[in-house]
Amino acid sequence: KSKIKNKHFLTLDTYSKDEIEYLVQYAIKLKDLQKKGIPHRYLEGKTLAMIFEKSSMRTRVSFEAAMYHLGGHALYISRDEISMGKRETISDTANVMSRFVDGIMIRTFGHHIVEELAANASVPVINGLTDDYHPTQVLADLITIYEKTGKFAGNKLVYVGDGNNMAHSLLFGCATVGIDCTIVTPEGYEVHKDIMEKAEEKAKKSGCTVYQTTDAAEGLKDADIVYTDVWASMGFEDSAEERKGVFRNYQVNEDLVKNANEDYMFFHCLPAHRGEEVSAEVIDGSHSVVFDQAENRLHAHKAILAALLAD
Ligand code: CP
Ligand code: NVA
Repeated sequence: KSKIKNKHFLTLDTYSKDEIEYLVQYAIKLKDLQKKGIPHRYLEGKTLAMIFEKSSMRTRVSFEAAMYHLGGHALYISRDEISMGKRETISDTANVMSRFVDGIMIRTFGHHIVEELAANASVPVINGLTDDYHPTQVLADLITIYEKTGKFAGNKLVYVGDGNNMAHSLLFGCATVGIDCTIVTPEGYEVHKDIMEKAEEKAKKSGCTVYQTTDAAEGLKDADIVYTDVWASMGFEDSAEERKGVFRNYQVNEDLVKNANEDYMFFHCLPAHRGEEVSAEVIDGSHSVVFDQAENRLHAHKAILAALLAD
């Protein structure tokens, strides 16, 4: 029986090193079963509700495919359909939905919405992205790092860009499993202070380092993995033009990656904007592993779903 059955998956902060490593290995096993055509219908008769208050391609499609592969059913619910918090309270939605389905995946704005939903749901709630965190993406990233390098400790990941949901979840994920993590942002776009402090504690425990700087060349030194994300996340579109100016010198391009290790790998959670946060040469070049990384969303979600929902 899974040790994390019925646990919510809201941030990686509440997952131990053992639990994250378990999910990574479980995902790799499920990926192998899928590639060999061996059925793994561990969620027969189970239903997942998927609430999307923001756009999505990868998260939506991979969660739905994951439920199908596992023998269960996924239900897509858009923001306008249920108008959570307007048509009825978040807690009423959580209470009633818990009586219909076996798990709830939600992508929304404020992280407090996911917390309130989870506090009132009697089934596991999975965070499919909030303004502050994107933990399912980082689980897929850890799977990719493990597959490509065979280890966690001994790798250095450098994230260049906005101190956003991706930066926060990467800090928690890396610090927990022992990957050195540096966050490079322009001044004024750093990660939340309390998240950095928590990551520092985790890093101390796992024996790695976390660090933040505004100097891209300094931060990228010895980078094994160079990671970037959009400059203006969903919900922050109003500041997109202003950000183009602020982030201009932080574009991950051939010049910038000269500061990283020669055999660095390029990661991006996607969707990407060529010519903004990353040049076409880098994202479409030989160091880029973005599509392997995206594929691992499917396997990550299968591991999460099976571990939290299977009997
Ligand atoms: N990376 C990611 O979460 O992609 P979507 O926004 O398309 O789901
Ligand atoms: N930081 C981005 C990630 C998209 C997957 C956003 O929140 O829009």
